[in-house]
Amino acid sequence: MIIVIDFGSQYNQLIARRVREQNVYCQIEPPDINMDRLKSLHPEGIILSGGPASIYEENSPRTSPEIFELGVPVLGICYGMQFMIDALGGTVSRAEKREYGFARLHIQKEDALLAGIDQQTHCWMSHGDLITGLPGGFEVTAVTENTPMAAAGDPIRRFYGLQFHPEVEHTPQGKQMLKNFLFSICGCTGEWTMKAFAEDAVEEIRKAVGDKQVILGLSGGVDSSVTAMLIHQAIGEQLTCIFVDNGLLRQNEGSRLKQLFTQHLKMNIDYVDASGQFITALHGVTDPEEKRKIIGKIFMDVFEAEAQEIENAEFLAQGTLYPDIIESRSAFGGPTSIIKSHHNVGGLPEKMKLKLIEPLKYLFKDEVRKLGETLGLPGELVWRQPFPGPGLAIRVIGEITQRRLEVLRTADAILIEEIREAGYYKKLWQSFCVLLPIKSVGVMGDKRTYENILAIRAVTSVDAMTADWAKLPHELLGKISNRIINEVKGVNRVVYDISSKPPSTIEWE
Ligand code: XMP
Repeated sequence: MIIVIDFGSQYNQLIARRVREQNVYCQIEPPDINMDRLKSLHPEGIILSGGPASIYEENSPRTSPEIFELGVPVLGICYGMQFMIDALGGTVSRAEKREYGFARLHIQKEDALLAGIDQQTHCWMSHGDLITGLPGGFEVTAVTENTPMAAAGDPIRRFYGLQFHPEVEHTPQGKQMLKNFLFSICGCTGEWTMKAFAEDAVEEIRKAVGDKQVILGLSGGVDSSVTAMLIHQAIGEQLTCIFVDNGLLRQNEGSRLKQLFTQHLKMNIDYVDASGQFITALHGVTDPEEKRKIIGKIFMDVFEAEAQEIENAEFLAQGTLYPDIIESRSAFGGPTSIIKSHHNVGGLPEKMKLKLIEPLKYLFKDEVRKLGETLGLPGELVWRQPFPGPGLAIRVIGEITQRRLEVLRTADAILIEEIREAGYYKKLWQSFCVLLPIKSVGVMGDKRTYENILAIRAVTSVDAMTADWAKLPHELLGKISNRIINEVKGVNRVVYDISSKPPSTIEWE
């Protein structure tokens, strides 16, 4: 286990990713982590992350200097290096020139951290302060034009510092430096795999749950499905998954999920068809936030009523992921677990006095997918594109009716079929149809038509925070358009959305 102390750098998650890619488990902790807790985690090494602060600032994040007395190797990156050097008695000064971007790195001395690195390479700098004096025991190991102490190390105490960011792609040999730290310096073995993670998690869930019952809100998305698989493997029949069909799902989605989870995966599924309730409540509603509020409220009511029926229920399982946890705490404060958008049942655990189980809370999305594969979850679910909690309600722009939902559903099924067939489904973050509240004139056969306009949205993205419209081949777009106009009654025009996020969003509402 490697601990990354979070000094607030935008690259923190990337450090954790790079470590885990080497099959070494790693956890991000805030700077004020209690030293007894840190010791109890038995880390093989500690990485002090970068951060936007300057150690001169009064409130700059600091961790207890005791961290340097644990006998554990430490790697300081950027601000983390400056913090370490300052704490150990060196000097950090304000730089005359801020250094940002590519810099040529010259290796002066090949120590354990820089073993195998080219004499001259590149690195990615981003700092204002500069180290000007090293504590006893440290030696300079690399320089750049503007940074005379770009890398330094104390091999006896096994403390190392890099003024640049080894975790980003722009430092081409950064990966090797991190590998050197993990394997040569910390002695990690690289045996952390999803199989090992699953075995540990199953054991922990069994211990925590005992003979009690667990409930889980299943949405059919990757996170809740993998959570369900893991818990089911641990406690089998003691898990009940509640699936609320809100009538806003895609074609055959509800029935396929039900079949998969009950017949194929042999899980206890409480399938609640509440579509009538949702559609009635949405009647005449056109405002997107109003739609979301109504859907969220009904979902909670239905879920709570179902959950009350389950005797001996003591736990609520949620598919919270690591980024949700990291992003919800500041570099200075402790973790505060946030509840994700409305499909997670916020408020319910306290109300029903349920304890939370969040077995994925230390995993990133792609690790969850790997775990899903390890657990035998069908590819159809492991690789599902994200689908919003309010479902098709926010893709029928304006008023929602059964008829309009059906038009959208039929068109969407065609789009997904063609996207899959062309091999684009996995490459796209999301691809879907949006039904617009305006009509246009067309001609079919010899007849004038006056029908709906449908938009196609397809984007690439890594985290949905930003997204680019997908440059799909014109032939593919043409085929989709043709099929939709010919096969879906009520649509006579298809348009392609060429807006990126920002300034647009992925969904239209
Ligand atoms: P936007 O449209 O904000 O979407 O660019 C970013 C991501 O979030 C999804 N999304 C939602 N998910 N409830 C959800 O569970 C919602 O109300 C909601 N709105 C947007 C969207 O599909 C995309 O993946």
